Amino acid sequence: MRLIKVSDEEELSRMAAEYVFSKIKSSERIVLGLATGRTPLGMYRHLSKYSKEYKQSYSHVHTVNLDEYVGSRAYHDYMQKNLFDHIGIPKNQTHLPDGEAYDLEKECRRYEEVIKELGGIDLQVLGIGENGHIGFNEPGTDFSSRTHVVELTESTLSANAKYFTHEKQPREAITMGISTILESKEILLLASGEKKARALRELFQGTLNSDVPATVLNQHPNVTVLADDGARSLL
Ligand code: GLP
Repeated sequence: MRLIKVSDEEELSRMAAEYVFSKIKSSERIVLGLATGRTPLGMYRHLSKYSKEYKQSYSHVHTVNLDEYVGSRAYHDYMQKNLFDHIGIPKNQTHLPDGEAYDLEKECRRYEEVIKELGGIDLQVLGIGENGHIGFNEPGTDFSSRTHVVELTESTLSANAKYFTHEKQPREAITMGISTILESKEILLLASGEKKARALRELFQGTLNSDVPATVLNQHPNVTVLADDGARSLL
């Protein structure tokens, strides 16, 4: 695992955007795994800016998001507003789990098929939850899990409650499984702020432990962690 040290959220956002943008520019075709939450917001802002400045085409880019709330389009709306509206990516090349699907189990299987048909994920961007979750894989999730429906923990619900001012916060979500995430060819994990320090300490110093799902990333051969001073404060 490589650790890239940055000072604050702004530097993290810029570095992350440069990293992803250079992959987009240098690839003939790329499947990007994308994350939501507060952490990647700055990265999306910079990516949108670079894409306009360089008139970057996205016709060779496909995206698959990690997760979506059940009964909601919150992350669809987030991606549209924060990235897709600004980069001109063909709509049919962006994918998120459908949290409003009637048959959620079938939707999970469909999503796995989508990823498989795309040929897998080339670069997966990840955030990290305060309790060490990745995607919405909460503590205790089986490392062999594939896309599945999860019941969110109180810790995750309260960390994300601020995003639900206009609708009732769902208590369940669809997420790529840990195994699905680990099959990505490359992973870029972003961590910003002291609230992530404990999770990051577990990631770098803890042992493989399903109570802190992110520790599984030590098993992956190509992970880069971009972390700011706050997130590294317990390392
Ligand atoms: C949510 C998302 C995760 C994200 C995590 C951290 O639970 N499902 O993908 O990594 O929150 O979010 P934030 O970046 O807002 O701290």
